[in-house]
Order: sequence, then C-alpha cells, then structure tokens
Amino acid sequence: MRIWFLGTAAGGGLPQWNCACPGCRAARDGGRSLRQDTLAVSGDGRSWYLLNAAPDLRLDAPELRPGPGLRETPVRGVVLTSAELDHTTGLLGLREATALTVFATRPVLAAVPALPLLDHYTAVTRGPLTSGVAVALEGGLTVTPFPLGAKRPRYATGRATGAPGEDWVVGLRLSDGRSTMVYAPCLAAWSAELADANLVILDGTFFTDDELLRSTGVRRTARQMGHLPIEESLPMLAPGVRYLYTHLNNTNPVARPDSAQRAALRRHGADVAPEGEILSLGGPHHLVDL
Ligand code: MLT
Ligand code: MN
Ligand code: ZN
Repeated sequence: MRIWFLGTAAGGGLPQWNCACPGCRAARDGGRSLRQDTLAVSGDGRSWYLLNAAPDLRLDAPELRPGPGLRETPVRGVVLTSAELDHTTGLLGLREATALTVFATRPVLAAVPALPLLDHYTAVTRGPLTSGVAVALEGGLTVTPFPLGAKRPRYATGRATGAPGEDWVVGLRLSDGRSTMVYAPCLAAWSAELADANLVILDGTFFTDDELLRSTGVRRTARQMGHLPIEESLPMLAPGVRYLYTHLNNTNPVARPDSAQRAALRRHGADVAPEGEILSLGGPHHLVDL
C-alpha cells in the first residue's frame, strides 16, 4: 500500500492567511508551510484514491499524471471522513473530471455543499459507507469505516439532512490484504481501532486542550471542537503500531521541527506525518519506508 501525504495541516493551513499567532509567525519567518489534510492511497501504484479533499489540494506529482487517454486519470475517487469544509471543498477543484465517485456515510453525502454543485459539472456517483462494512476499491484495497462521533460541521448544525444515521465523523481502515492503515484525522476520544493496525495516521490538531485560546484568543477548546489533544492520545499509543499525527492546527507546536513537543512525540515512537512524501507500507515485517 502506498500512502501519499498531500497535506497535513488543519483548516486554514500553515501559516493561516489571517493569523499572526506564534506558530504562524514562526512558519512565515522560517519559510515553512503546510497544506490542509488530504491523503492519496493506492494498492497497486496505478489506481489512487483521495482520502478527503482539501481546498488547497494539488495533484501534480508524477504518480498522478493523466493518460494514456486524453482525459484518463489514475484518481479513481474520493473517500471522506467527515463533511467539514477543510476536508470537502477540494471536491470543487475536481469538477473537470469525466466522472467522479465519492464515498462517505449517508449524513455526510447528504450534507456536503460541494456535491450538489458538482452535479452540474460532472457525473458524480455517491458511494454510501456504513460503519463496519468493507468496500472494495480498485487496485486491491478495501476501505472499512468505523464510527468516531456525531459532530456536525458548524454549517450543518441543527439542520435536517433527510439522511439516516449519525455517523458524521468516521475513521477509515484500509487494507491490501497484507498491511493495514488507519486514518482518523478527527478523533474526539481514543478508539480501540487505533491500537490494531500497522500504521495509524491520527488527529494531531492540537497539542493541548486550551491551545487555541492561549495562542489566538479564540474561545474554543480542542475537546469542544471534537479533537482529542495530542497530550491525551500520546499515553494511549499501542506498542508495535507506527503513529503519525496529521491535521495539525497552525497553533500546534509540533509543527515546529525544533519544539519540545515534537521531541515528546518522538520519545513515544510517534512523529508528525511527512507532508509531500509517499510512504510504502508492506512486506514481511510491515516496514514503513519514510
Ligand atoms: C475541524 O476540524 O474541527 C473543523 O474543520 C474546524 C473548522 O470548521 O474549520
Ligand atoms: Mn478540520
Ligand atoms: Zn496561527
């Protein structure tokens, strides 16, 4: 299985356009930037699926080069973990597709604002996902969602969707029959699913619960936003599993390579997800080539 980290930041990216918090200032001064959270995965190196679609998504790597047909692309579809804008507005940038398959749970498919807009531009196939039910993808992967909560995006709060179910946030378990990767960028609480995989890419939005207030004055805690702070997930990490944190908010000190918090991740055998890199998972010992 190949996993390509297209973006590893939370909504707004790093630096965020309107933010002068210490993290954004340090990123500007150091010439560092991170795009918003999106992965691409492939079982065979030929068929690729996007996991979420951030607004600053760029699909310009050689692996995704179109052809041989004039409008043929290795991108076979998109799998969503939530209906949040930072995970779904990138769908609009795929409107030139001849056809597009989007997998998500029923409430997410019914809520995502980009989907009815896309219907005017391309043939969108909606693939409803049900927690615990595996779906086969092209290239030898299966994806199985697991429930992580009923937190709706702010735009969908209190709105009837007409869709059954309350799986607004899911994690994804991907398998190629040899290796298993779990992707859970929005994690309100620890889940046993995160202790059982070769690689787990998990919610690294905030390091501490009150980080947003302390860094920016915005009065929302990590837990109120449905994000388990890293300092609370670190003690839960299971031995034998490789953990990479993603969806880093620009206030998060782990985004700085020389921070004490990044060093703390490494002491626990974890790290931040390597943006821009393709990692291959597999082989007899499930080695991760970074
Ligand atoms: C989240 O991850 O909690 C949301 O994307 C926050 C937002 O609305 O930007
Ligand atoms: Mn987000
Ligand atoms: Zn900032």
